[in-house]
Amino acid sequence: MTLENINMARENKKFVLAQRPKTHVVPGETFRLEKEPVPTANDLKDGQVLLEVLYLSLDPAMRGWLNDVRSYLPPVQIGETMRGGTLSRVIASKSPKIKEGEIVNAFIGWTEYKIVSDKEIEKLEIPEGGHITDLLGVLGLTGLTAYFGLDKIGKPKAGETVVVSGAAGATGSVVGQIAKLRGCRVVGIAGSEEKCAWLKEELGFDVALNYKSGNFKKEFAEATPDYIDVYWDNVGGEILEMALDRAQKHSRFVMCGAISGYNESGKETKGIRNLFHVVAQRIHMEGFIVFDFLPEYPRARKEIGEWLAEGKLKRKETIVKGGIEKAEYAIKDLFEGKNIGKLLLEVKSPNEVRGARL
Ligand SMILES: NC(=O)c1ccc[n+]([C@@H]2O[C@H](COP(=O)([O-])OP(=O)(O)OC[C@H]3O[C@@H](n4cnc5c(N)ncnc54)[C@H](OP(=O)(O)O)[C@@H]3O)[C@@H](O)[C@H]2O)c1
Repeated sequence: MTLENINMARENKKFVLAQRPKTHVVPGETFRLEKEPVPTANDLKDGQVLLEVLYLSLDPAMRGWLNDVRSYLPPVQIGETMRGGTLSRVIASKSPKIKEGEIVNAFIGWTEYKIVSDKEIEKLEIPEGGHITDLLGVLGLTGLTAYFGLDKIGKPKAGETVVVSGAAGATGSVVGQIAKLRGCRVVGIAGSEEKCAWLKEELGFDVALNYKSGNFKKEFAEATPDYIDVYWDNVGGEILEMALDRAQKHSRFVMCGAISGYNESGKETKGIRNLFHVVAQRIHMEGFIVFDFLPEYPRARKEIGEWLAEGKLKRKETIVKGGIEKAEYAIKDLFEGKNIGKLLLEVKSPNEVRGARL
């Protein structure tokens, strides 16, 4: 290794929030890349570990965390490291609970290295047939969101029609498959023919509709002849309005997200024009945040892990490579629909990591 390489390896790169975006994230403007010395094992206090980030989870919610508004988490502050979930490797430990080389989930944000308390990390089992990145996807927050939102709010019964928007993404693809496991008829909505083919041919959705097709409105009505019993909302906007128009009496609307409006600035956000269907059809419309179910995560992960091992649940990942510098570009991919399944950024390939046990 040359001296230059050694110095590079000793430099931690991280993104801090530079200015709040008015609409879309602007690479080179919204965030600022900062460099600082990498902490060393000598910096550790008792109960702490030094983490090296392997994968960063990219989530639509990140856009909301940049707005200075009241929400379920405080906004990321100007100058603060961008918030985010990671899969990290322990490279030094002063904790009796965690050994060097172990892979853990840690919510430490857009950074390459960080020292944290062992209380801030989660060590998870990878089920048979699983791979480490499942810990950020199907066994991570998106899989858990699908599991709890569907069972606790959607309460699907066999034979019912479940419609899922954002169906080819990390959360939606799991929602639709769990609904199939519950015996439902599942209609998925996604933004390309390739995504619709994946939903139907590989995941077993009964119908998959491309909302960008000119006939979408007509196809949507045809796909819901008995109306909708459970609607999973990932996108809000016009697709939510269409789902309200097709709601069955006493249907359940699981309000998970509204990505179509995340880049709009407050006053320009369009309202939902046909909310009166909630009254007329006695719709149960309920929002939730996956954190609400934290105590039940182990039970959910056990069942999801069994489905994975038995081949009953499939998943796909879209992994952007190129290191932490790519984070500010990769987050835009979510809003452009470039991902199928879970979107991750590979900050460092696990194979490159000294002594990794994978
Ligand atoms: N409540 C909770 O606790 C919780 C937890 C996790 C996620 N969520 C929410 O769940 C939703 C999905 O999140 P995810 O992490 O699984 O992301 P994802 O679905 O893997 O990725 C986002 C997808 O949204 C679609 N999209 C982007 N802009 C759109 C638009 N204007 N209209 C319709 N679809 C659009 C894109 O697919 P297309 O090609 O199909 O457009 C894109 O692939 C988000 O709304 C997120 O905020 C909520």
